[in-house]
Amino acid sequence: MEKIVILTGAGISAESGLGTFRDEGGLWAQHRIEDVATPEGFARDPALVHGFYNARRVQAAKAQPNAAHEALARLQQDWPDEVAIITQNVDSLHEAGGSRNVIHMHGTLAGALCAACEHRWLSPPEMAVGESCPACAAPAARPDVVWFGEMPYHMDAIYDHLAEAWIFAAIGTSGQVYPAAAFVHEASLSGARTVEFNLTPSDGASSFDEVILGPATDTVPRWVDKLLSQR
Ligand code: APR
Repeated sequence: MEKIVILTGAGISAESGLGTFRDEGGLWAQHRIEDVATPEGFARDPALVHGFYNARRVQAAKAQPNAAHEALARLQQDWPDEVAIITQNVDSLHEAGGSRNVIHMHGTLAGALCAACEHRWLSPPEMAVGESCPACAAPAARPDVVWFGEMPYHMDAIYDHLAEAWIFAAIGTSGQVYPAAAFVHEASLSGARTVEFNLTPSDGASSFDEVILGPATDTVPRWVDKLLSQR
């Protein structure tokens, strides 16, 4: 069993032009988390929250996958064992780059969710305040993204992957948000070799066996080529 488990964060989409959260001038420097990424913020001002996600949805739809996304798709394609890609990102650049079965633990910009009946459907490019649910007609449509204080999605599947990981790689994440920030510990407990890809060592860098610094579009394809050449 030589399963590779990958966790990605906003840093893998940075070179596709999508902003990260905690870098200089990032999204959390422009907006208060409590206003745009909590259920309370949505209840207080749904127009502000829809505006935030509509802008990100429109921007993400124009973005192109980069060499790091494409390298991970190549690894999934050519690696003889499973390659599980878990992302904290709500963009669809892994899929656009050719990856399959991507696990979006924080949901997706492409998804809409009914806050009343939990029906899910594809979101329009811009969601309006009070948009009604196609299933129950309640004016309760919201972005199908996981806000602070809500449970991330697919956690059982994620812990199963981590328990079977031969290699665990975290790419472009600051390691500040749980439970994702603890995945490296789970993987280490399973005996996995752990590697972090970042521009600078993240808060959790010391938990990794190896830290590879540089832009993901440079470091990830190089790592994938090396893995595949050693087969
Ligand atoms: N190549 C590699 N790493 C990069 C690049 C790049 N080109 N650009 C930025 N990074 C790194 C930054 O150094 C930083 O460590 O990506 C990381 C981005 O960190 P954050 O902005 O905190 O994003 P992320 O870790 O994905 O945030 C996790 O927090 O706000 C919530 O739900 C949101 O999913 C998000 C979660």
